Amino acid sequence: MRRFLVTGGAGFIGSNFVRMVLSEHADALIVNLDKLTYAGNLENLAEFLEHQNHKFVRGDICDAALVDQVIDEHQIDTIVNFAAESHVDRSITGPKAFIEANVTGTLTLLEAARDKDMERFVQISTDEVYGSLGPEGKFTEQTPLSPNSPYSASKAAADHLVRAFGHTWGVKYNITRCSNNYGPYQFPEKLIPLMINNALGDKDLPVYGDGLYVRDWLYVYDHCTAIWQVLQKAPPGEIYNIGGCNEKANLEVINLILDRLDKPKSLIKHVADRPGHDRRYAIDASKAINELDWKPSVSFEQGINKTIDWYLQNREWLENIVSGDYQKYYQSMYENR
Ligand code: NAD
Ligand code: DAU
Repeated sequence: MRRFLVTGGAGFIGSNFVRMVLSEHADALIVNLDKLTYAGNLENLAEFLEHQNHKFVRGDICDAALVDQVIDEHQIDTIVNFAAESHVDRSITGPKAFIEANVTGTLTLLEAARDKDMERFVQISTDEVYGSLGPEGKFTEQTPLSPNSPYSASKAAADHLVRAFGHTWGVKYNITRCSNNYGPYQFPEKLIPLMINNALGDKDLPVYGDGLYVRDWLYVYDHCTAIWQVLQKAPPGEIYNIGGCNEKANLEVINLILDRLDKPKSLIKHVADRPGHDRRYAIDASKAINELDWKPSVSFEQGINKTIDWYLQNREWLENIVSGDYQKYYQSMYENR
Protein backbone atom coordinates (compact mmCIF):
# COMPACT_ATOMS: atom_id res chain seq x y z
CA MET A 1 0.00 0.00 0.00
CA ARG A 2 1.30 3.44 -0.90
CA ARG A 3 1.16 5.87 2.03
CA PHE A 4 0.51 9.51 1.17
CA LEU A 5 0.73 12.70 3.15
CA VAL A 6 -1.70 14.96 1.27
CA THR A 7 -1.56 18.57 2.46
CA GLY A 8 -4.42 20.99 1.89
CA GLY A 9 -6.78 18.08 1.36
CA ALA A 10 -9.77 19.99 2.75
CA GLY A 11 -9.52 22.67 0.04
CA PHE A 12 -10.97 22.64 -3.46
CA ILE A 13 -8.49 20.56 -5.48
CA GLY A 14 -7.11 18.64 -2.50
CA SER A 15 -10.55 17.37 -1.46
CA ASN A 16 -11.35 16.35 -5.04
CA PHE A 17 -8.03 14.46 -5.11
CA VAL A 18 -8.72 12.71 -1.79
CA ARG A 19 -12.21 11.75 -3.00
CA MET A 20 -10.85 10.40 -6.29
CA VAL A 21 -8.10 8.34 -4.66
CA LEU A 22 -10.31 6.85 -1.94
CA SER A 23 -13.05 6.05 -4.47
CA GLU A 24 -10.86 4.56 -7.16
CA HIS A 25 -7.68 3.19 -5.56
CA ALA A 26 -8.08 0.75 -2.66
CA ASP A 27 -4.32 0.38 -2.17
CA ALA A 28 -3.66 3.94 -0.96
CA LEU A 29 -3.62 5.39 2.54
CA ILE A 30 -4.09 9.16 2.80
CA VAL A 31 -3.13 11.23 5.79
CA ASN A 32 -4.67 14.62 5.12
CA LEU A 33 -2.91 17.52 6.87
CA ASP A 34 -4.84 20.77 6.61
CA LYS A 35 -4.85 23.93 8.71
CA LEU A 36 -8.52 24.61 7.87
CA THR A 37 -8.05 28.22 6.88
CA TYR A 38 -11.07 30.05 5.47
CA ALA A 39 -10.62 27.90 2.34
CA GLY A 40 -10.45 24.54 4.09
CA ASN A 41 -13.82 22.90 4.67
CA LEU A 42 -14.39 19.44 6.10
CA GLU A 43 -17.85 19.43 4.52
CA ASN A 44 -15.96 18.86 1.27
CA LEU A 45 -15.07 15.39 2.55
CA ALA A 46 -18.06 14.60 4.76
CA GLU A 47 -18.59 11.08 3.41
CA PHE A 48 -14.88 10.20 3.69
CA LEU A 49 -14.03 11.38 7.20
CA GLU A 50 -14.51 7.87 8.66
CA HIS A 51 -13.02 6.04 5.68
CA GLN A 52 -10.50 3.43 6.88
CA ASN A 53 -7.83 4.66 4.44
CA HIS A 54 -8.21 8.34 5.36
CA LYS A 55 -6.88 10.08 8.49
CA PHE A 56 -7.54 13.79 8.86
CA VAL A 57 -5.09 15.87 10.91
CA ARG A 58 -5.72 19.56 11.54
CA GLY A 59 -2.39 21.37 11.45
CA ASP A 60 0.00 23.72 9.71
CA ILE A 61 2.56 22.57 7.14
CA CYS A 62 4.95 25.11 8.73
CA ASP A 63 4.90 23.06 11.96
CA ALA A 64 8.01 20.90 11.49
CA ALA A 65 7.47 18.82 14.64
CA LEU A 66 3.92 17.95 13.60
CA VAL A 67 4.98 17.13 10.04
CA ASP A 68 7.71 14.80 11.37
CA GLN A 69 5.33 13.15 13.79
CA VAL A 70 2.66 12.51 11.16
CA ILE A 71 5.20 11.07 8.73
CA ASP A 72 6.67 8.73 11.35
CA GLU A 73 3.37 7.65 12.85
CA HIS A 74 1.85 6.71 9.48
CA GLN A 75 5.06 5.59 7.74
CA ILE A 76 4.47 8.04 4.93
CA ASP A 77 6.44 7.42 1.72
CA THR A 78 5.06 10.20 -0.53
CA ILE A 79 4.08 13.84 0.01
CA VAL A 80 1.61 15.59 -2.29
CA ASN A 81 1.61 19.28 -1.40
CA PHE A 82 -1.62 21.10 -2.27
CA ALA A 83 -1.62 23.32 0.83
CA ALA A 84 -1.35 26.99 -0.08
CA GLU A 85 -2.91 30.38 0.02
CA SER A 86 -4.39 30.29 -3.46
CA HIS A 87 -6.31 33.48 -4.29
CA VAL A 88 -4.51 36.17 -6.33
CA ASP A 89 -6.73 39.04 -5.09
CA ARG A 90 -6.03 38.18 -1.45
CA SER A 91 -2.29 38.11 -2.22
CA ILE A 92 -2.56 41.70 -3.43
CA THR A 93 -4.29 42.91 -0.26
CA GLY A 94 -2.11 40.77 2.08
CA PRO A 95 0.98 39.08 0.62
CA LYS A 96 2.56 37.95 3.89
CA ALA A 97 0.31 34.96 4.50
CA PHE A 98 1.30 33.72 1.04
CA ILE A 99 5.01 33.69 1.88
CA GLU A 100 4.32 31.85 5.11
CA ALA A 101 2.10 29.07 3.70
CA ASN A 102 3.49 28.76 0.19
CA VAL A 103 7.22 29.29 0.80
CA THR A 104 7.94 28.47 4.46
CA GLY A 105 5.36 25.68 4.37
CA THR A 106 6.91 24.06 1.29
CA LEU A 107 10.38 24.43 2.80
CA THR A 108 9.24 22.64 5.97
CA LEU A 109 7.83 19.74 3.97
CA LEU A 110 10.96 19.54 1.81
CA GLU A 111 13.18 19.30 4.88
CA ALA A 112 11.06 16.40 6.12
CA ALA A 113 11.16 14.71 2.68
CA ARG A 114 14.95 15.07 2.62
CA ASP A 115 15.57 13.92 6.19
CA LYS A 116 13.25 10.93 5.86
CA ASP A 117 14.40 9.98 2.38
CA MET A 118 10.87 10.06 0.99
CA GLU A 119 10.08 8.07 -2.17
CA ARG A 120 8.54 11.13 -3.82
CA PHE A 121 7.63 14.77 -3.18
CA VAL A 122 5.01 16.18 -5.54
CA GLN A 123 4.56 19.95 -5.56
CA ILE A 124 1.23 21.19 -6.91
CA SER A 125 2.21 24.40 -8.64
CA THR A 126 0.51 26.65 -11.14
CA ASP A 127 0.87 28.00 -14.67
CA GLU A 128 0.90 31.49 -13.13
CA VAL A 129 4.60 31.03 -12.32
CA TYR A 130 5.28 31.59 -16.05
CA GLY A 131 3.72 35.07 -16.05
CA SER A 132 1.41 36.32 -18.78
CA LEU A 133 1.08 35.57 -22.51
CA GLY A 134 0.27 37.83 -25.45
CA PRO A 135 -2.34 36.76 -27.99
CA GLU A 136 -0.22 33.85 -29.32
CA GLY A 137 1.72 30.92 -27.90
CA LYS A 138 1.47 28.61 -24.91
CA PHE A 139 3.46 27.91 -21.76
CA THR A 140 5.77 24.89 -22.04
CA GLU A 141 7.85 23.41 -19.24
CA GLN A 142 10.83 25.37 -20.70
CA THR A 143 9.12 28.77 -20.42
CA PRO A 144 11.17 30.90 -17.98
CA LEU A 145 9.48 31.69 -14.68
CA SER A 146 8.24 35.27 -14.56
CA PRO A 147 5.59 35.54 -11.85
CA ASN A 148 3.59 38.77 -11.66
CA SER A 149 1.49 38.61 -8.47
CA PRO A 150 2.56 38.01 -4.87
CA TYR A 151 0.67 34.69 -5.12
CA SER A 152 2.51 33.51 -8.22
CA ALA A 153 5.84 34.82 -6.86
CA SER A 154 5.37 32.71 -3.74
CA LYS A 155 4.52 29.65 -5.86
CA ALA A 156 7.57 30.23 -8.07
CA ALA A 157 9.77 30.55 -4.96
CA ALA A 158 8.41 27.21 -3.78
CA ASP A 159 9.13 25.62 -7.18
CA HIS A 160 12.72 26.86 -7.01
CA LEU A 161 13.11 25.41 -3.52
CA VAL A 162 11.78 22.04 -4.67
CA ARG A 163 14.24 21.97 -7.55
CA ALA A 164 17.10 23.07 -5.28
CA PHE A 165 16.35 20.28 -2.78
CA GLY A 166 16.48 17.82 -5.68
CA HIS A 167 19.76 19.25 -6.95
CA THR A 168 21.47 19.63 -3.57
CA TRP A 169 20.21 16.65 -1.57
CA GLY A 170 18.72 14.33 -4.16
CA VAL A 171 15.11 14.76 -3.01
CA LYS A 172 13.01 12.84 -5.56
CA TYR A 173 10.44 15.35 -6.70
CA ASN A 174 7.94 16.23 -9.39
CA ILE A 175 6.30 19.59 -10.01
CA THR A 176 2.93 19.94 -11.73
CA ARG A 177 1.87 23.29 -13.17
CA CYS A 178 -1.81 23.45 -13.87
CA SER A 179 -4.11 25.97 -15.49
CA ASN A 180 -7.34 27.28 -13.89
CA ASN A 181 -9.40 24.52 -12.31
CA TYR A 182 -13.17 24.53 -11.96
CA GLY A 183 -15.71 22.06 -10.62
CA PRO A 184 -17.43 20.97 -7.39
CA TYR A 185 -16.35 22.37 -4.00
CA GLN A 186 -14.55 25.46 -5.32
CA PHE A 187 -14.68 28.36 -2.87
CA PRO A 188 -16.89 31.19 -4.20
CA GLU A 189 -14.09 33.76 -4.29
CA LYS A 190 -12.84 32.33 -7.62
CA LEU A 191 -14.40 33.40 -10.93
CA ILE A 192 -16.76 30.53 -11.78
CA PRO A 193 -18.32 29.79 -8.37
CA LEU A 194 -18.46 33.51 -7.54
CA MET A 195 -20.41 34.23 -10.73
CA ILE A 196 -22.72 31.24 -10.19
CA ASN A 197 -23.38 32.33 -6.60
CA ASN A 198 -24.06 35.96 -7.55
CA ALA A 199 -26.26 35.03 -10.50
CA LEU A 200 -28.32 32.67 -8.30
CA GLY A 201 -28.83 35.57 -5.88
CA ASP A 202 -29.59 38.07 -8.69
CA LYS A 203 -26.54 40.11 -7.63
CA ASP A 204 -24.18 42.04 -9.93
CA LEU A 205 -21.42 40.01 -11.59
CA PRO A 206 -18.18 42.00 -11.06
CA VAL A 207 -16.08 41.72 -14.22
CA TYR A 208 -12.54 43.05 -13.85
CA GLY A 209 -11.54 45.53 -16.59
CA ASP A 210 -12.74 44.70 -20.09
CA GLY A 211 -13.45 41.06 -19.23
CA LEU A 212 -11.33 39.85 -22.13
CA TYR A 213 -8.66 38.24 -19.97
CA VAL A 214 -8.16 34.63 -21.04
CA ARG A 215 -7.84 31.56 -18.83
CA ASP A 216 -7.32 27.93 -19.89
CA TRP A 217 -9.91 25.92 -17.95
CA LEU A 218 -9.45 22.38 -16.63
CA TYR A 219 -12.14 20.33 -14.89
CA VAL A 220 -10.83 19.53 -11.40
CA TYR A 221 -11.32 15.75 -11.70
CA ASP A 222 -9.05 15.77 -14.76
CA HIS A 223 -6.38 17.63 -12.80
CA CYS A 224 -6.63 14.94 -10.11
CA THR A 225 -6.23 12.07 -12.59
CA ALA A 226 -3.16 13.80 -14.03
CA ILE A 227 -1.59 14.02 -10.55
CA TRP A 228 -2.36 10.34 -10.03
CA GLN A 229 -0.60 9.50 -13.28
CA VAL A 230 2.42 11.56 -12.16
CA LEU A 231 2.51 9.43 -9.01
CA GLN A 232 2.39 6.25 -11.10
CA LYS A 233 4.61 7.07 -14.04
CA ALA A 234 6.78 10.16 -13.67
CA PRO A 235 10.55 9.80 -13.25
CA PRO A 236 11.95 11.98 -10.43
CA GLY A 237 12.97 15.52 -11.34
CA GLU A 238 10.35 15.95 -14.07
CA ILE A 239 7.99 18.91 -14.35
CA TYR A 240 4.61 18.63 -16.09
CA ASN A 241 2.23 21.28 -17.37
CA ILE A 242 -1.38 20.21 -17.00
CA GLY A 243 -4.15 21.91 -18.94
CA GLY A 244 -7.42 21.31 -20.69
CA CYS A 245 -6.89 23.20 -23.95
CA ASN A 246 -9.94 25.32 -23.13
CA GLU A 247 -8.99 28.93 -23.58
CA LYS A 248 -11.92 31.23 -22.79
CA ALA A 249 -12.27 34.95 -22.21
CA ASN A 250 -13.86 35.68 -18.84
CA LEU A 251 -16.93 37.27 -20.43
CA GLU A 252 -17.51 34.15 -22.52
CA VAL A 253 -17.59 32.03 -19.35
CA ILE A 254 -19.84 34.52 -17.55
CA ASN A 255 -22.30 34.71 -20.45
CA LEU A 256 -22.49 30.94 -20.54
CA ILE A 257 -23.28 30.81 -16.82
CA LEU A 258 -26.00 33.46 -17.20
CA ASP A 259 -27.54 31.56 -20.12
CA ARG A 260 -27.54 28.26 -18.23
CA LEU A 261 -29.14 29.89 -15.17
CA ASP A 262 -31.58 31.86 -17.32
CA LYS A 263 -30.45 35.16 -15.82
CA PRO A 264 -30.21 38.55 -17.63
CA LYS A 265 -26.97 39.97 -19.07
CA SER A 266 -27.81 43.20 -17.24
CA LEU A 267 -26.29 41.59 -14.13
CA ILE A 268 -22.83 42.02 -15.67
CA LYS A 269 -21.00 44.98 -14.11
CA HIS A 270 -17.52 46.05 -15.20
CA VAL A 271 -15.47 47.06 -12.14
CA ALA A 272 -11.93 48.31 -11.51
CA ASP A 273 -9.31 45.93 -12.83
CA ARG A 274 -7.06 43.69 -10.71
CA PRO A 275 -3.66 45.43 -10.35
CA GLY A 276 -1.04 43.68 -12.49
CA HIS A 277 -3.73 41.45 -14.03
CA ASP A 278 -2.21 38.72 -16.26
CA ARG A 279 -3.79 38.98 -19.70
CA ARG A 280 -3.71 35.41 -20.92
CA TYR A 281 -2.71 31.91 -19.81
CA ALA A 282 -2.53 28.90 -22.12
CA ILE A 283 -0.92 25.56 -21.40
CA ASP A 284 0.94 23.20 -23.70
CA ALA A 285 0.16 19.91 -21.94
CA SER A 286 1.68 17.66 -24.60
CA LYS A 287 4.41 16.35 -22.27
CA ALA A 288 1.82 15.11 -19.73
CA ILE A 289 -0.38 13.71 -22.49
CA ASN A 290 2.48 11.90 -24.25
CA GLU A 291 4.45 10.66 -21.24
CA LEU A 292 1.83 10.01 -18.56
CA ASP A 293 -0.90 8.27 -20.57
CA TRP A 294 -3.31 11.02 -19.47
CA LYS A 295 -5.92 13.15 -21.14
CA PRO A 296 -8.85 15.25 -19.92
CA SER A 297 -12.11 13.28 -19.72
CA VAL A 298 -14.53 16.14 -20.40
CA SER A 299 -14.84 19.11 -22.74
CA PHE A 300 -15.34 22.57 -21.25
CA GLU A 301 -19.03 22.48 -22.23
CA GLN A 302 -19.55 19.17 -20.38
CA GLY A 303 -17.47 20.30 -17.39
CA ILE A 304 -19.22 23.63 -16.92
CA ASN A 305 -22.64 21.96 -17.14
CA LYS A 306 -21.60 19.40 -14.52
CA THR A 307 -20.27 22.23 -12.34
CA ILE A 308 -23.41 24.37 -12.57
CA ASP A 309 -25.55 21.29 -11.86
CA TRP A 310 -23.41 20.56 -8.79
CA TYR A 311 -23.83 24.08 -7.40
CA LEU A 312 -27.58 23.92 -8.05
CA GLN A 313 -27.80 20.60 -6.21
CA ASN A 314 -25.61 21.77 -3.33
CA ARG A 315 -27.12 25.12 -2.41
CA GLU A 316 -26.66 24.30 1.28
CA TRP A 317 -22.89 23.85 0.87
CA LEU A 318 -22.71 27.27 -0.81
CA GLU A 319 -25.02 28.94 1.71
CA ASN A 320 -23.00 27.61 4.66
CA ILE A 321 -19.95 29.40 3.27
CA VAL A 322 -21.67 32.54 2.10
CA SER A 323 -23.55 33.12 5.36
CA GLY A 324 -20.37 33.48 7.47
CA ASP A 325 -17.19 35.53 7.25
CA TYR A 326 -17.44 35.44 3.48
CA GLN A 327 -19.91 38.34 3.71
CA LYS A 328 -17.21 40.57 5.22
CA TYR A 329 -14.65 39.45 2.65
CA TYR A 330 -17.03 40.15 -0.20
CA GLN A 331 -17.86 43.61 1.11
CA SER A 332 -14.22 44.63 1.62
CA MET A 333 -13.17 43.32 -1.80
CA TYR A 334 -16.01 44.66 -3.95
CA GLU A 335 -17.83 47.46 -2.11
CA ASN A 336 -15.90 50.41 -3.58
CA ARG A 337 -14.52 48.75 -6.65
P1 NAD B 1 -7.78 26.22 -1.82
O1 NAD B 1 -7.51 27.61 -1.37
O2 NAD B 1 -9.16 25.82 -2.17
O3 NAD B 1 -7.29 25.19 -0.69
C1 NAD B 1 -6.08 25.34 -0.01
C2 NAD B 1 -6.10 24.41 1.20
O4 NAD B 1 -4.82 24.50 1.86
C3 NAD B 1 -7.17 24.75 2.23
O5 NAD B 1 -7.83 23.59 2.65
C4 NAD B 1 -6.38 25.38 3.38
O6 NAD B 1 -6.98 25.17 4.64
C5 NAD B 1 -5.05 24.64 3.25
N1 NAD B 1 -3.92 25.39 3.82
C6 NAD B 1 -3.55 26.67 3.57
N2 NAD B 1 -2.46 26.99 4.29
C7 NAD B 1 -2.11 25.88 4.98
C8 NAD B 1 -1.05 25.58 5.88
N3 NAD B 1 -0.15 26.49 6.23
N4 NAD B 1 -0.99 24.33 6.40
C9 NAD B 1 -1.91 23.39 6.07
N5 NAD B 1 -2.95 23.63 5.24
C10 NAD B 1 -3.04 24.86 4.70
O7 NAD B 1 -6.77 25.96 -3.01
P2 NAD B 1 -6.97 25.09 -4.34
O8 NAD B 1 -7.61 25.92 -5.37
O9 NAD B 1 -7.53 23.78 -3.98
O10 NAD B 1 -5.43 24.92 -4.76
C11 NAD B 1 -4.66 23.82 -4.29
C12 NAD B 1 -3.27 23.93 -4.84
O11 NAD B 1 -3.30 23.92 -6.25
C13 NAD B 1 -2.55 25.22 -4.45
O12 NAD B 1 -1.21 24.91 -4.17
C14 NAD B 1 -2.66 26.10 -5.68
O13 NAD B 1 -1.56 26.99 -5.76
C15 NAD B 1 -2.63 25.06 -6.79
N6 NAD B 1 -3.34 25.41 -8.02
C16 NAD B 1 -4.63 25.83 -7.99
C17 NAD B 1 -5.31 26.08 -9.19
C18 NAD B 1 -6.76 26.52 -9.22
O14 NAD B 1 -7.26 26.86 -10.28
N7 NAD B 1 -7.48 26.52 -8.12
C19 NAD B 1 -4.64 25.93 -10.42
C20 NAD B 1 -3.30 25.52 -10.40
C21 NAD B 1 -2.68 25.25 -9.20
O1 DAU C 1 -3.92 29.64 -13.46
C1 DAU C 1 -3.99 28.92 -12.26
C2 DAU C 1 -4.48 29.82 -11.16
O2 DAU C 1 -5.85 30.06 -11.41
C3 DAU C 1 -4.26 29.23 -9.78
O3 DAU C 1 -2.89 29.08 -9.53
C4 DAU C 1 -4.91 30.11 -8.70
O4 DAU C 1 -4.79 29.48 -7.43
C5 DAU C 1 -6.36 30.30 -9.04
O5 DAU C 1 -6.96 31.18 -8.11
C6 DAU C 1 -6.52 30.85 -10.46
O6 DAU C 1 -6.04 32.23 -10.54
P1 DAU C 1 -6.83 33.34 -11.38
O7 DAU C 1 -6.46 34.67 -10.87
O8 DAU C 1 -6.71 33.09 -12.84
O9 DAU C 1 -8.34 32.95 -10.95
P2 DAU C 1 -9.60 33.83 -10.51
O10 DAU C 1 -10.75 32.87 -10.44
O11 DAU C 1 -9.33 34.68 -9.34
O12 DAU C 1 -9.82 34.78 -11.76
C7 DAU C 1 -10.03 34.26 -13.05
C8 DAU C 1 -10.20 35.43 -14.00
O13 DAU C 1 -11.43 36.10 -13.69
C9 DAU C 1 -9.12 36.48 -13.89
O14 DAU C 1 -8.87 37.03 -15.18
C10 DAU C 1 -9.73 37.55 -12.98
C11 DAU C 1 -11.20 37.49 -13.36
N1 DAU C 1 -12.15 37.84 -12.28
C12 DAU C 1 -12.04 37.19 -11.09
C13 DAU C 1 -12.88 37.49 -10.04
C14 DAU C 1 -12.76 36.77 -8.72
C15 DAU C 1 -13.14 38.81 -12.49
O15 DAU C 1 -13.25 39.36 -13.59
N2 DAU C 1 -13.99 39.09 -11.46
C16 DAU C 1 -13.90 38.49 -10.23
O16 DAU C 1 -14.70 38.84 -9.32
